[in-house]
Amino acid sequence: MTFTKEKTLAEQVRLDFPILHQEVNGKPLVYLDNAATSQKPMLVLNTLRDYYEQYNSNVHRGVHTLSAKATDAYEGARDKVAAFVNAASRQEIVFTRNATEAINLVAYSWGSNLQQGDEIILSVMEHHSNLIPWQMLAQRTGAVLKFVELTETEEFNLEQFKSLISDKTKLVSTVHVSNTLGCINPVQEIIAIAHKYGAKVLIDACQSVPHMPIDVQQMDCDWLVASGHKMCAPTGIGFLYGKLDLLRSMPPFLGGGEMIADVFLDHATYADLPNKFEAGTPAIAEAIALGAAVDYLSGIGMDKIYTYEAELTGYLFEQLAQIPEIRTYGPLPKVAGLGRAALAAFTAGDVHPHDLSTILDQAGVAIRAGHHCTQPLHRYLVAQSTARASLSFYNTHEEIDVFITTLKEAIDFFGSIFN
Ligand code: ALA
Repeated sequence: MTFTKEKTLAEQVRLDFPILHQEVNGKPLVYLDNAATSQKPMLVLNTLRDYYEQYNSNVHRGVHTLSAKATDAYEGARDKVAAFVNAASRQEIVFTRNATEAINLVAYSWGSNLQQGDEIILSVMEHHSNLIPWQMLAQRTGAVLKFVELTETEEFNLEQFKSLISDKTKLVSTVHVSNTLGCINPVQEIIAIAHKYGAKVLIDACQSVPHMPIDVQQMDCDWLVASGHKMCAPTGIGFLYGKLDLLRSMPPFLGGGEMIADVFLDHATYADLPNKFEAGTPAIAEAIALGAAVDYLSGIGMDKIYTYEAELTGYLFEQLAQIPEIRTYGPLPKVAGLGRAALAAFTAGDVHPHDLSTILDQAGVAIRAGHHCTQPLHRYLVAQSTARASLSFYNTHEEIDVFITTLKEAIDFFGSIFN
C-alpha cells in the first residue's frame, strides 16, 4: 500500500484486496457485509500460501528445520496479537477456533466454579455466542442470568446495569460493539463497576478489534475474545485474552496433545500457559496468517481506520436519513460519524429485509438480512428481521451511493406493488 495525501484510505488500500475487483450479477461488487466477515488482503493470502508451499510442518513437536520455522511463525503470531491488544504478557493470548470457542472455553473452565444462585449479567443485545454458553452454564450450575436492557436511544442502559449488579454477581459478559445496533458500549465504566462488586468481566470484541484501537490493560477486562475472520484473517482462528493469574487458576478446557507436561496412564500434569488451553494440532497456517492480518492493520494504523470509518458512517447515515421509509436501529452517529460503529441495521416499512437484500444483490451489493445471530434483541425491538449494511476501511463513498440508489429503487418497486 502507498500512502498519499490526496487519496482516501479506501483508495489507498483497495488494490490489496483482490476479491473486491470483480463483477457480481454483471455489476461491480459492493461488499457491505463486513460485520459477517471481512475480506483478506494479499499479505494474508500470501502468508497462507507461503506456509503450505514452503514450511508446512507441525509446531512444538519436531526438532527439524521446518518444524522450528513453523513454531517460530506460530509463536510470532501470538506476540503480534499480544502487542495489538496491549496484553501484559504473550502468555495471556490463547489461540482458539473463533470467539465462540473462546467464550465456551471460559464458560466451561472458569464457569465450573459457579454455584446455585450466583448471578451472571448479560445484555439483551448479545450475539448468540455470548448468550448460549452462559445459558448452558446456568443450566449446569443453577446460576441465574440477568439482562441489561436498552436506553431510549437503543444503547446499553448503564443505570439499569447499576441496579442489577450486586455481591451475587460473579460475571458480567457483554459485547463491546453491537453487531446489530452498532452502539459502542461503555466497557471501561462497566468493568470498573463490576470489579467493585468482585465480579469478573468478559468483553466480546469481535466488532471492535477490527475497527478501533484496543488496549486490554487500560480497559482492565478479565477476558476479551475476538475472531480472526472479521479482522482480515482467515476463518478457523480467533483468540482469547485473559489476565495471567486468572488463566493460571482455570482448569483446562479440552484434553489431548500439546496441553500436557507429563502423561501417565491414569493421570497427567498440564503445560503452562498458553499451551494448557491449546489441545491438539492448532490451526497453524491460520494463526500465522492472523499475525499477518495484525501486521497489515497495524501498518495502516487503527486510529486511521477508526477515523476513516467514522467519516464513512456519517455519510451512510446522512444518506439513509433521506429515505423516509427507513428506520435504523441503535444510536445515530454523533458529530462526524463518531459515537457508533460503521454499520447500519434497518427496516424499510413493510418490505421484507430478504427482498431488499435480493434486489441489492442483483445490483452487485452484498448486505446481510435476518437476525444477525441476535434473535432475542430482534424480539426486544419487535422486529422479525433487519437488513444490515456493514462497512470496512476499504469501502468508498461511491459504494455507499450505489447502495443508496439501489435501495431507493427497491423501496419504490415494492411500494408500487403494495399500494
Ligand atoms: N456475527 C456475525 C454477524 O454479525 C456473523 O453477521
